[in-house]
Amino acid sequence: MPLDLSRYLKERCDLIDRRLETALPAADEFPYSLHRSMRYSTFAGGKRIRPILLLAASEAVGGDVSAALPAACAMEMIHTYSLIHDDLPAMDNDDYRRGKPTNHKVFGEAVAILAGDALLTQAFILLSSPVFVASFPPGRIFGVINEMAAAAGSRGMVGGQIVDMESEGKQDLDLPTVQFIHTHKTGALIKAAIKCGALLAGADARQVEALNRYGEAVGLAFQIYDDILDIEGTTAEIGKDAGSDQARGKATYPAVIGLKESRRRAAELLDMALEAIADFDVQAEPLREIARYVLSRKS
Ligand code: IPE
Ligand code: IPE
Ligand code: MG
Ligand code: MG
Ligand code: MG
Repeated sequence: MPLDLSRYLKERCDLIDRRLETALPAADEFPYSLHRSMRYSTFAGGKRIRPILLLAASEAVGGDVSAALPAACAMEMIHTYSLIHDDLPAMDNDDYRRGKPTNHKVFGEAVAILAGDALLTQAFILLSSPVFVASFPPGRIFGVINEMAAAAGSRGMVGGQIVDMESEGKQDLDLPTVQFIHTHKTGALIKAAIKCGALLAGADARQVEALNRYGEAVGLAFQIYDDILDIEGTTAEIGKDAGSDQARGKATYPAVIGLKESRRRAAELLDMALEAIADFDVQAEPLREIARYVLSRKS
């Protein structure tokens, strides 16, 4: 039976949201502003693509989805922190995110910065929590912690963000620079999500290598398509300020190689992602469908 992707995504979103609910401090726990701010952005309505990919990668190699759930939630906390900071006036200075006013618009900059800091830290509290640690051999847990930390840090997401910021407004941008930005600011966390799912499930070296290739292709394609949506989507559709890349002179694929070539490149990456996992059986069907969804989504 073909996979009903929208139902699959909805079920996984609900599963992740329920776990995030208990993994974050309650809104009525002091300091109230900080905890409300962390929860505001987390539950503002994200697609949960990274945690869903982590679980789907685990599933693709026969892993236990429910045991991997804390790692999926940790990944979403790191991603949400990155969005709160990405929107700050000192960075992209955006007003809308996930269909709502950005965190700093509601809580102020100081609280938004600290909510981001606290979400990043909370991810590692969850990854080292007794219930998660007891579910897997220690080597897998350490592997996951190392992957996520590396993907979030200066050689991963933050490294991409700094080059993104320093490239703003530059006229002579080249493709290797934009590719570096995209594979780091966005690709690193997406690739790590898939790798962590594979590691937790005890994937063998060949499977990890194939899933890494899938993750690299999907990660880059995801950000190229994000650039395309920034141009072609409306604020209502994408739930964030449309046209903000051009307004800020951002280093994007369309700015460097044009819209048509960006689409072609994204489609090529989708083929590469599907090819990488061609040998996997039906348990990898969600990964295949999610890769297609990345280049057909409206938000
Ligand atoms: C937005 O990510 C930021 C990028 C890295 C492109 P998503 O498009 O996954 O945003 P949410 O989580 O669904 O809000
Ligand atoms: C986001 O890139 C990357 C991270 C948040 C790490 P963008 O700046 O393009 O993301 P959006 O478009 O604001 O979601
Ligand atoms: Mg940005
Ligand atoms: Mg941004
Ligand atoms: Mg964008």
